Amino acid sequence: MEDSAPTPGAGAAALPPDGARPGLGRPDARPAAAPGTAPLLRAEAINQYYGGSHILRSVSLEAAVGEVTVVLGRNGVGKTTLLKSLMGVVPVRSGRVGFDGADITRETPYQRVRRGIGYVPQGREVFSRLTVQENLAMGLAYKPGSTSLPTELFELFPVLKAMLHRRGGDLSGGQQQQLAIARALAAGPRLLVLDEPTEGIQPSIIKDIGRVIRMLADTGLPVDGKPRRMAIVLVEQYYDFAEELADRYLVMERGEIVMQGRGADMAADGVRARMSI
Ligand SMILES: Nc1ncnc2c1ncn2[C@@H]1O[C@H](COP(=O)(O)OP(=O)(O)OP(=O)(O)O)[C@@H](O)[C@H]1O
Ligand SMILES: [Mg+2]
Repeated sequence: MEDSAPTPGAGAAALPPDGARPGLGRPDARPAAAPGTAPLLRAEAINQYYGGSHILRSVSLEAAVGEVTVVLGRNGVGKTTLLKSLMGVVPVRSGRVGFDGADITRETPYQRVRRGIGYVPQGREVFSRLTVQENLAMGLAYKPGSTSLPTELFELFPVLKAMLHRRGGDLSGGQQQQLAIARALAAGPRLLVLDEPTEGIQPSIIKDIGRVIRMLADTGLPVDGKPRRMAIVLVEQYYDFAEELADRYLVMERGEIVMQGRGADMAADGVRARMSI
C-alpha cells in the first residue's frame, strides 16, 4: 500500500459528528430503494484462494439500486480480493455472482463493465502518461457505439475539465481519485464499485467524493437524458466516511463477513470499536 490510510479521527474536522449527516447534503426524506425489488448485484458464498491460502470464506453480499453498501475491514482481510472477485479480475473458486438477474460468475471483467459495472480500483490506476481526456476516453471505450463523454462528469468534477490536457501523473492524489471515478462513470454504469477512494486523500476532496457517491445513489447520472439511480459498493477503512454514506454495511475479518446491518445502526452496533480492535 503506497499511501497511508486516514486513521479514524484524522478527518474529523472535515466531517460531521456521529449521527449527523449534513456534510453530504443528504435530505432526511431521500428516496429509499423500492421495497421488494431484487438487488442489482447478488454475490453468494464466494470462496477465493491465493495458492493454498483461503482468502474469502463463503462471502455473500448484495447491493441494491439507490443504496450505498459499505464493506469495512482492516488491512489484509480480503476486501480488494472480494471486489476483484466481483469484477472477474480473479476467478472465484466457488460461489456465484449475479447481476441484474444474470449469472456473471464466469464472465470477463470486460463483459461485466459492458453490462454496467464500473470499477474504481485501489490505488486508482490512472494512466500517468495519458492526459485526463485520454484516461476518460479509456473508460468510454467499453461503451458500445459511444464516442462522447457525458458532460455531467465535468459538473461532478469541475477540476477535470480545467485539467483535460494535463497528464494523469501530474495530478494530485485527490485529483487522480476523481479522475478514476469519472473514468468508471464514463460508460454509464448502473453499479459503481469503489475500493478505498479516501486512501491518502486530503479531507476537502474526501468530502467532495462523498457528496458525489451520495448523489449517484440518490439521483444518478443522466443516461439518455434521464437520471438513473445507481447501486454503490464502497470498500472503506475510514470509519467516519463509511458511516456517513452507508445505507447497508458489512464488516470483514480474515476473509469472512462477521457483522452486517443498516448504516443507520452502525454506531449502535459498535462497528467503530470492531474496526479498531
Ligand atoms: N496476488 C496475491 N497473491 C497472494 N496473496 C495475495 C495477493 N493479493 C492479496 N494477497 C493476500 O490476500 C489477503 C487479502 O488481501 P486483500 O488485498 O484482498 O486485502 P484488503 O482487505 O484489500 O487489504 P488493504 O486494506 O490493505 O487493501 C492478504 O493476506 C494479502 O496479503
Ligand atoms: Mg485492499
